[in-house]
Amino acid sequence: MRITVVGTGYVGLVSGTCLAETGVTVTCVDVDASKIALLNEGGIPIYEPGLRELVIKNRADERLFFTTSLEEAIVDADAVFIAVGTPPDEDGRADLSYVLEVAREVGQILDHYAVVVTKSTVPVGTNQKVKEAVAAELRKRNSDVEFDVASNPEFLKEGDAVNDFMAPDRIVIGVESERARKTMERLYHAFLLNNTPIYFMDIPSAEMTKYAANSMLATRISFMNDIANLCEIVGADVEAVKKGIGSDTRIGKKFLNAGCGYGGSCFPKDVKALIKTGDEYGYRMEVLKAVERVNEKQKEVLFSKIMKHFRQDIRGKRFGLWGLAFKPATDDMREAPSLVLIERLLEAGAVVKAFDPVAMEECKRRIGGKIEYAKNMYEALTDADAMVVVTEWQEFKVPKFTYIEKALKEKVIFDGRNIYNADQMKEFGYVYYGIGK
Ligand code: UDX
Repeated sequence: MRITVVGTGYVGLVSGTCLAETGVTVTCVDVDASKIALLNEGGIPIYEPGLRELVIKNRADERLFFTTSLEEAIVDADAVFIAVGTPPDEDGRADLSYVLEVAREVGQILDHYAVVVTKSTVPVGTNQKVKEAVAAELRKRNSDVEFDVASNPEFLKEGDAVNDFMAPDRIVIGVESERARKTMERLYHAFLLNNTPIYFMDIPSAEMTKYAANSMLATRISFMNDIANLCEIVGADVEAVKKGIGSDTRIGKKFLNAGCGYGGSCFPKDVKALIKTGDEYGYRMEVLKAVERVNEKQKEVLFSKIMKHFRQDIRGKRFGLWGLAFKPATDDMREAPSLVLIERLLEAGAVVKAFDPVAMEECKRRIGGKIEYAKNMYEALTDADAMVVVTEWQEFKVPKFTYIEKALKEKVIFDGRNIYNADQMKEFGYVYYGIGK
């Protein structure tokens, strides 16, 4: 089994490397020559636990290759995975130009049967467009080469992507021919052996599954954030409510954490795109519109609490921020709640010093010297008027409170991820603000 993966971004690199780990021969292609050079030298362009080791191992075993030439990569490939970006355009629609460009290039080169698999998150109907784009190029060449398209959405969480790929809850594959189904079964044979459920379905359903999954998860979060805000008003504790409802197996315990809003490259983009798909077909996605509004509001929650505490004047105040990444175990800051908070704090005349275990370089790249960067988590708090937790990194959960106390000017903590116990904080003498309690 031999495959080509086009796009060595997050999805392409993780998927290609993990498939190589199951024995498949994988050639990853990218137009970015510097990225390919880095990968060929054993470097990794993204931070993802466990990935580097797998890349090095599979390259050494000669199952994983990196090149800038699609022509070279596609030789003998049973399947060509398209894993290039689909960034939102100004209207929130997924921009398909990269996906379709790859499809055209495949059509210009393909000289044997292959399944063209879309791995990028694409709206319903995209596989049809991919099919037409490949076919049009083949026609131009008067080629009678046969091919199929398939939709194989990914469900990888950043920070845990290798595990998610190697031990998935399920694999979803949309196909429209028996031949494509057989190829995909052979490709995922190692997963079949492990009894991973593989759901074959029609292509539009597979495309829709990805958006529905992410939108459902985003909905849970916005719902819990709404409940949390109401908890504060009526004097309830969202952490208790979470336990109370999560034990109902129909609801489930996961993804019920209230906080300062969801971010990342997936939820905001996919919720927007599904709303847009609805609009295009004349159907209003009422729930998702509310999910999005609640999230925008929730990203402002920490700032509102801070302003209230300091009686609407934080000019010249110093804030020590813990966490910049949109969630722990990643350096990704796309749509991160920290960016909204930083902007508000700076606009209001405050000074910010931040610490994040891995996202500081990324933050410098985005906003440069607008804020100060600390060498360690405690240094971020030196002479600060308050400490603010924005990302729930593991190392923030049981900190040395004596160090915190020594560093802070005032013992005030705004905890945007509910990682501390309110009673204990009170006992330690802190003025403590959580979310929904
Ligand atoms: C998500 C999906 O989980 C994954 O299946 C899909 O393929 C891509 O999108 P990811 O964006 O990596 O993955 O992050 P995830 O761990 O799902 O968290 C998304 C955001 O939701 C983060 O900002 C996180 O802080 C927030 N979140 C998550 C909450 O606020 N509360 C929760 O209970 C869970």
